[in-house]
Amino acid sequence: MINITNLTRYFGTLAAVNAVSFSVGKGEVFGLLGPNGAGKTTTIRMLTTLLKPSEGTALVAGYDVTTDPLEVRRAIGVVPQMLNLDIDLTCAENLEYHGRLHKMEPGDREARIEELLRFVGLWDKKDTPVEHLSGGMRRRLLIARGLMHRPQVVFMDEPTVGLDPQARRLIWGFLESLKRKGITILLTTHYIEEADALCDRVAILQTGRIIALDSPTVLKAGVGKYSIECLGRHDIPRKFFPTREEAIDASREVCEDIVVRESTLEDVFINLTGERIDT
Ligand SMILES: Nc1ncnc2c1ncn2[C@@H]1O[C@H](COP(=O)(O)OP(=O)(O)O)[C@@H](O)[C@H]1O
Ligand SMILES: [Mg+2]
Repeated sequence: MINITNLTRYFGTLAAVNAVSFSVGKGEVFGLLGPNGAGKTTTIRMLTTLLKPSEGTALVAGYDVTTDPLEVRRAIGVVPQMLNLDIDLTCAENLEYHGRLHKMEPGDREARIEELLRFVGLWDKKDTPVEHLSGGMRRRLLIARGLMHRPQVVFMDEPTVGLDPQARRLIWGFLESLKRKGITILLTTHYIEEADALCDRVAILQTGRIIALDSPTVLKAGVGKYSIECLGRHDIPRKFFPTREEAIDASREVCEDIVVRESTLEDVFINLTGERIDT
């Protein structure tokens, strides 16, 4: 559903996205994980035809984003990082407007609006202007809008940014049920647990380049499935072990108060870059 080769975008001399290549299959949830400024939004903006690539090619749903942008736009749903709902309009009106843009029939629009507002838990808010919604509700409406014209590929840029854990988990539930319906999702996030919980495969980005790409399980096993931490000591370098037993054995020599924990995608990133993701 997505096929990109050497995708590159310069801003002046800065390569915000630098020779990025990957493919996403039907029904896959693919994550772009990386710190702020890594190039996640720039990648999504190119794939959704909002920004022209400087170099490389990108096919989305079989169409080239540079030569066939209108076909790409018809095929995809977009949930942007910035909330760009019309806050004077109600929830239903925001979806209605989007449905008209996509030339949906009136009866179909009406049915789809109810289906989606129920899906994201906003049916009782259908006549409420967006300006009266909480941040979490606005994010949910943004997702409903992205799905309105039944796209088979959906791009979501930081779909849970700024939300509290409960609101975030609610959105994770929506994404899981979209996946069960066979919808292909490309999402970006700088939340490690989000990439881990939702994505079949993750590309880890740093300053415009992919530095690792695989399933979360394989990426974590690559550093060692277990890690030890000494309570109250931050001077001990991180060490990773393939089994819990080896981690416990090694920790005996290090200090008394230890915790053995499972490695995370953050460990993968730190191991590759020496830096943290979530800064
Ligand atoms: N329109 C722009 N003009 C100039 N620089 C930009 C523009 N958009 C993004 N950048 C720069 O490109 C890099 C990647 O940005 P972005 O794709 O927004 O990263 P992310 O979404 O991963 O936080 C950053 O260094 C950012 O400052
Ligand atoms: Mg971004």
